[in-house]
Amino acid sequence: MELQLDGARVLITGGGRGIGAAMARGLAEAGAKVAVADIDGGLAEATAGAIGGAAFPLRIDVRDRTSVRDAVAACVARLGGLDVMFNNAGIAQVRNFLDITEEDFRTVMDVNALGVLIGMQEAIRQMRLQGTGGSIVNTASIAGKQGYEPLAHYCASKFAVVALTQAAARAFGKDNIRVNAICPGVVDTAMWRLIDKGFQDNGLSKTENEAFTTFASGAVLGRPSKAEDLVGVARFLASPESAFMTGQTLLVDGGMVFD
Ligand SMILES: NC(=O)c1ccc[n+]([C@@H]2O[C@H](COP(=O)([O-])OP(=O)(O)OC[C@H]3O[C@@H](n4cnc5c(N)ncnc54)[C@H](O)[C@@H]3O)[C@@H](O)[C@H]2O)c1
Repeated sequence: MELQLDGARVLITGGGRGIGAAMARGLAEAGAKVAVADIDGGLAEATAGAIGGAAFPLRIDVRDRTSVRDAVAACVARLGGLDVMFNNAGIAQVRNFLDITEEDFRTVMDVNALGVLIGMQEAIRQMRLQGTGGSIVNTASIAGKQGYEPLAHYCASKFAVVALTQAAARAFGKDNIRVNAICPGVVDTAMWRLIDKGFQDNGLSKTENEAFTTFASGAVLGRPSKAEDLVGVARFLASPESAFMTGQTLLVDGGMVFD
């Protein structure tokens, strides 16, 4: 299948490592120009540097509207516009349900839900200004489809991503701005190493990798996910091959959750 990403102008948050970095690489390989944006500027630089001329790094804090606006402006200054926005940055926390504090809830919601709202708003403003349409791709999760007890506030934030995706798809279809979400399963990244440790710290698992292996065993395809498993769908949603799709939430989880 020919994916027409040649020259597509892409901004990806949380692009410094993990799923975002794999997507940035995969999109650049398909011909896109990619702004690799991360709160960790060093990670953004390393990932963009490894990709080469098709990428450049940006420091961004998705919780901060000025920072996001500046990143969109930098993308426009460098590439002449913005065609595709990946709102991928996210954080996770493991807490027993009764131990989740207001601060925990706000911390997770600020990055995963408010950060996605701000990213969508600033990208859509720019796309409407251009009048060229566009594609927004949000990273949700299987946790945006099911509640998992030791990750309740994380799940709430990912359900919020699904809701924001659907609402924006309805609002901006008339501008030919498509809004979809990807739901990864159990992906072997730094985030899952943190979750795995969180299970141990909360007495929910005994040994390293126990929680990771247990959760990943729910995938009917029989293995945990690698970040690269998300690249094909990322390319598809960024490209005109998905031109008639909007408001959708695609599970790419090896068959953990059937929807
Ligand atoms: N790893 C999984 O199993 C899994 C499963 C489902 C969904 N997800 C989601 O996929 C996305 C990427 O996860 P990952 O596994 O690659 O995690 P990761 O921790 O490896 O990467 C996340 C990146 O986001 C950046 N980031 C964090 N807060 C930020 C902020 N405020 N502003 C800008 N950047 C920020 C981090 O610096 C990091 O580079 C997240 O939204 C996550 O919730 C991950």
